[in-house]
Formats: sequence, C-alpha cells, structure tokens
Amino acid sequence: MHSDTGDLYRAFAEREARGNSAIYQDLAEHVAGDDRLRTLLDGLPAAKRQPNLLFGAVRHLGGPVTEGWPAFRDWVAAHWAEASATMLERRTQTNEAGRCATLLPLLAALPQPLALIEVGASAGLCLYPDRYRYRYRHLSADGTGAPATEFGAVTSPVTLDCAVSGPVPLPASLRERLPEVVWRAGIDLNPLDVRAEEDVRWLESLVWPEQTHRLDRLRGAVRVARAEPPLLVRGDLNAAVRELVAQVPAGATPVVFHSAVLAYLPPEAREEFAVTVRELPGHWISNEAVSVLPAVARRLPRPAPAGSGLFALALDERPVAFTGPHGQSLDWFGEA
Ligand SMILES: C[S@@+](CC[C@H](N)C(=O)[O-])C[C@H]1O[C@@H](n2cnc3c(N)ncnc32)[C@H](O)[C@@H]1O
Repeated sequence: MHSDTGDLYRAFAEREARGNSAIYQDLAEHVAGDDRLRTLLDGLPAAKRQPNLLFGAVRHLGGPVTEGWPAFRDWVAAHWAEASATMLERRTQTNEAGRCATLLPLLAALPQPLALIEVGASAGLCLYPDRYRYRYRHLSADGTGAPATEFGAVTSPVTLDCAVSGPVPLPASLRERLPEVVWRAGIDLNPLDVRAEEDVRWLESLVWPEQTHRLDRLRGAVRVARAEPPLLVRGDLNAAVRELVAQVPAGATPVVFHSAVLAYLPPEAREEFAVTVRELPGHWISNEAVSVLPAVARRLPRPAPAGSGLFALALDERPVAFTGPHGQSLDWFGEA
C-alpha cells in the first residue's frame, strides 16, 4: 500500500525525471518506497510535498543530491526541520529565460513598440526578449537539420537554442531588429529579486543537477536583468493585471503573457483570468501545458504527442505552435 505521496514521487520519476535527470529519477523512486520520508512529507500540506520543492530545498541548504540515495535519505531525516521550513517558505518558481525563444516570433509580429506584462513572472527573466541572442535550428520533416539562424543582442551573455519545425515566421526583419520593448513589468505571488543572493541561489537550486546548460543560461539571464531590474508587483494575477496594464505608456502595444503559470490556478481562476484579459487592450500570449486553457485546447489543429509534455503557444487564444516546456523547441502550425 502506498500513500498519495508515494504515487506523486513515482509519477514524477516516470513522467518528468526519466530521460531528463537520472539523479532525480533515482531519488524520487526511492522516496516513493521509503516509509520514513513519506511520513515526513505527509506532515506537510499537500501542495508542499512536491518532488521539485524537496530536491530544491535540499540543494539550497547544501544537502547531497548527487551522492546517491543513502546519503540523501540520511541527510533529509537528520535535517528535516530546516528542509521542511524551506519547503514551507519557498515555492517552485523556476524562471526559464529559454522560453523567450518561443515567444519571440509572436512578439516580433505585433505592432511595435511593446509594453510587456508577464503574469507569474518569478524573477522576471522572460521580460528581456530583446536582450538575448537566439539560435534557431531548423528541423525538416525527415528530422535532418539545416544551418542555424542566429541573431539577437550582440553583446548578450545568453544565447537561447531552439529547434524549430514548421513554417515558423523568422523573417529577415526579425533577424535585423528585435522587438522594441519600451516598458516591462510583471506580477507574481512571490516575486524573486535578481539583486538578492538568496533568491538567485533559490532559482539555481531549482535547476536539475544534470542540466548545467540551464544553470549557465540562468546566471547569464540574471546578469541581464540586474543591469535593469524589472518592475515586479506582488499579488495574485487576477487581482493585479488590470492595474498594471493601465500603467502602460501611451503609444506602446500592451502584451500580457505567461508561461507555465496557469496550471497553478484552479479552473475557475483560469477562466476569470481569460475573461479579464479578453477585455483588456492589446494582445495576450499564452504558453501553457496543452489542457490548461480549454479555449486554446479546443482549437489545436492536432493533438500533442502523448507524454511529450509540450506546451501550446497561442496568440489571443488562437494556437500557433507546440513548444518545448523550457523553450527548447518550437513546432509551428500551418501558414507562416
Ligand atoms: C513555474 S514558474 C514560471 C515563471 C516564468 N513564467 C517562466 O516562464 O520562467 C510559475 C510562477 O507563477 C507564479 N504564480 C503562481 N500562481 C500565481 C498567481 N495566482 N498569481 C501570480 N503569480 C502566480 C509562481 O509564484 C511562480 O513564480
């Protein structure tokens, strides 16, 4: 007999960690079968038992995640007071600048200049699409590659790699001139501050151990954001989005956008958000797991491959592409 917590860790090992992190897959499988750790986790509210939160907390506190199950189990059991306090205090707020590579073609196609409003912004690293470099590798139908298209902010410490398929609109004008962003702001329940070492360490702790390229990207994006820290408002997206859009400077196109956020909201709150954003001026870009927004899911031209974990990218609820959840791929539908 296994608790729900056991099922949670087993599902994480199978569906999320397998193929992405052998270390987390192994740890999660062991947690699922370990009475002691499951009992400790069951003492937390259900939303605080997540594998990413446990593993992030252990790393944040300097505990061992790469030294095998016995070292991990013994450390967690001995340091449960600190580990559980960190899990209660912190949230899974992975901030992935790589997602800008999938947002960029849509942003570039809107009337310029832009005012960006990101809901669920974490530390705001996706608010700088004009400050990164991009390398799009084109995949043909037979899976072979063509030369990469590379462009972007010349001196950026960050290059975002993205494998593209389908008629993704990467026109010459985009290669010559990135979107012009004249205003950027975000909302988060718990905004992280790129200037605060503890917050940056927490973001680093959330990157999975084998994914060193993501750690490099995160550090580079933090440097970009530190040069001009974003305006981030603390609050619930439904409560704060109208007021933020009202602050957009005249002459700029407001763009409300979000990636990997609405899944955290109950369906009624997602619907409330959709009703609000439909009434706001400007445009709405959503980049979420395929089933999160029913109006987008209904219009998908084809189902996402089973178990792919792909997101649906949509402009004003019209789906345009499937995207890799960390921005690693962009599969454009239909006409460019
Ligand atoms: C997985 S992170 C994604 C961060 C960022 N969008 C990105 O793509 O890197 C989800 C973020 O949404 C925030 N969040 C979740 N529910 C929220 C709500 N109701 N209102 C505002 N922010 C929320 C969390 O605090 C967290 O920072």
